[in-house]
Amino acid sequence: TQAHIGVIGVGTMGSALALNFAEKGQDVALWNLELSAVDRLIASAGGLAARLQRCETLADLVAALPAPRAIVLMIPAGAPVDQTIAALRPLLSAGDTIIDGGNSDFRDTMIRTTTLEKAGLSYLGIGVSGGAEGARRGPSMMVGGTSSSYSRMAPILEAIAARYDGDPCVAHLGPDGAGHFVKTVHNGIEYADMQMIAEVYGMMRDGEGLAASDIAPVFRSWNRGPLESYLIEVTAEVLGTKDPQTGDDMVDLIVDQAGQKGTGRWTVIEALRMGQAVSIIEAAVGARVMSAQKSTRKRAARVLVPAGTDTMSPVAEHDLQSALIVGRVLAYAQGFEILAAGSKEFNWSLDFARIAEIWRAGCIIRSAMLDDIATAFRSPRPAGHLVLSDHFIPLLTTHIAGLRRVVSAAALKGLPVPALAAALSWFDMIRQERGTSDLIQAQRDYFGAHSFERVDADGSHHGPWHSG
Ligand code: 6PG
Repeated sequence: TQAHIGVIGVGTMGSALALNFAEKGQDVALWNLELSAVDRLIASAGGLAARLQRCETLADLVAALPAPRAIVLMIPAGAPVDQTIAALRPLLSAGDTIIDGGNSDFRDTMIRTTTLEKAGLSYLGIGVSGGAEGARRGPSMMVGGTSSSYSRMAPILEAIAARYDGDPCVAHLGPDGAGHFVKTVHNGIEYADMQMIAEVYGMMRDGEGLAASDIAPVFRSWNRGPLESYLIEVTAEVLGTKDPQTGDDMVDLIVDQAGQKGTGRWTVIEALRMGQAVSIIEAAVGARVMSAQKSTRKRAARVLVPAGTDTMSPVAEHDLQSALIVGRVLAYAQGFEILAAGSKEFNWSLDFARIAEIWRAGCIIRSAMLDDIATAFRSPRPAGHLVLSDHFIPLLTTHIAGLRRVVSAAALKGLPVPALAAALSWFDMIRQERGTSDLIQAQRDYFGAHSFERVDADGSHHGPWHSG
């Protein structure tokens, strides 16, 4: 029998997406490098197994689909995508669509789209967010590609997407790499949010001496307020989980070295390349890098004794909550600034309100705040920055003192809060009408005759530095 859609790669994400397609009435042709994974998926699919077809080869998968075909790649980013496309190409006919649902580098997606569209094939680069559960129950999907390729796939993508008040969390954001670019920035924000949550956990664990099981209810209660979000919910769940073998709090048994597959780092690289200040996301990537330097940290913990620390003064729970609220607003704000810069550089006309809307459900950074961000982007904002919107000014004003107290306390206690500190410094820089770059300009002019502008005259000037 003929299938409706093909899925190549049945790892965690591919399997979940295949089951989601099947549940929406799609017959799915499946192929995986290791065929046994397809067998396992079908064996565990229960009533949905009837809609899943195991294909022995790529050619079988293509033959199982009537033209024009739609084939979704759910495989590791990079070389595997190019290899699979190369193997598929001779088997496909004009009008067929290849969809890359992995975390691909958007620059690769730009090249692949151009090449394949030239050859008469359709190509969509889709950022799929929400982890395995999202892919199974409804992910948020950020689509890049031509309008015609998208419109062909829109009904099925809308059927499997997460919904926010009935609105499917999928949108055609722009051509070629636009979807994967937006997904990359999504992950940059994800890194920042996770890091700030971890820092606040650290303040409670190491500053207040609380056990994970005592911290869990704090996050649980925050999830009923302005911080309501998937990541806070997950944090509460994780902190409240015991190891079945030892009965200890599970998190205490996990090695403190974080992995990363690249998207957070790419966000920072692209942002810096486009001249954007993304200090919070950068701090989060840096923190993962430093987490991996376990042996150096072990040694330093013994020899770099924190002189002058004050371990006494407690930090109020509501200040920690405020710190996360402000940090989250500013991390989103930095993310949207990168999106704006990318949109301008690549001429994508990204719709920031729509991006915020499709992030309201399904994705990892979904949070109550995104609805307000969408509203802010739909309303006129002075100078165009999210932090200057009518909604966020009062929120920042209310909570900034809490962030200030948390960062100060962390500094005095000798506890690292790189992302929260970066957020606070960003806030204090953006609100400083006269900054300190007058001195930077003077220094540049002093040693390199770079010239500067004067506050009291037009044109470019030099200082009287070397006159004596
Ligand atoms: C998502 C996630 C998901 C994954 C990333 C980041 O939106 O569902 O972002 O794509 O978590 O790959 O992973 P790393 O932390 O390994 O870089």
